[in-house]
Amino acid sequence: MSTEGNVRVITTHKLLEMKRRGEKIAMLTAYDYTSAKIVDQAGIDIILVGDSAANVMAGHETTLPITIDQMIYHAQSVMRAVKNPLVVVDMPFGTYQGNSKEAVHSAIRIMKESEADAVKVEGGAEIMESVTRILSTGIPVMGHLGLTPQSIHKFGTYAVRAREESEANKLVEDAIALEEAGCFALVLEKIPALLAKKVAETLTIPVIGIGAGKYVDGQVLVMHDMLGLNNDFSPRFLRRYANLHQEYLKAFRQYVEDVKTGDFPNDNEQY
Ligand code: KIV
Repeated sequence: MSTEGNVRVITTHKLLEMKRRGEKIAMLTAYDYTSAKIVDQAGIDIILVGDSAANVMAGHETTLPITIDQMIYHAQSVMRAVKNPLVVVDMPFGTYQGNSKEAVHSAIRIMKESEADAVKVEGGAEIMESVTRILSTGIPVMGHLGLTPQSIHKFGTYAVRAREESEANKLVEDAIALEEAGCFALVLEKIPALLAKKVAETLTIPVIGIGAGKYVDGQVLVMHDMLGLNNDFSPRFLRRYANLHQEYLKAFRQYVEDVKTGDFPNDNEQY
């Protein structure tokens, strides 16, 4: 596959076609050049430069502290690496919620400085003015409902969302409103599978789940979690595709031992 100029192989239009054809969409987070390059080679459809970088790259408890400058830095690193997938950048906490004018300014900064393809925002009715204004500039927007980590202090827990009827009804209304506003896709995080199914069947735009079951149009995972780099985090929805924590530890320990014993470098590893 190749790109024509700067146009991605995967576009928002192609994602819509994939949903229509019933072809599942694979999305993964990435935050740096080296891993984004491998993710691209693996044939991923969407890379999310997630604000989960605050957790897995910077070690914060929540996603709230990450700044727009830091998100742009991660997005620029990813953009240098990839050719095929659509690259979506999370708008960080505090850059779009309260003020729709600031939201447009933040989204434009992200798009101009990173040259990414789209932005993602968390929330429904309460951020609709911001969503509409960002969309009016021609920037594609991905929505995110359910467990929205930027609202963790409001929720007070990372438990499954929308088990109660009233929250489930609001989630469906918000999903419809985001589609009607013009969002090109929606992430649903940690909600009951049957509720996610209802949303995916109701919307024409692709619905990508994380902890939202199998009836949606695609899946997203955080790279560090699915690679098993992060052993402390074991939610039920997470499938680990490797145990890189173990592999890293083994390699690092061997290196320490080799240096200490004088085994590294040997005669062939010097000039
Ligand atoms: O920041 C992130 O990684 C996300 C995913 C969990 C969807 O928003």
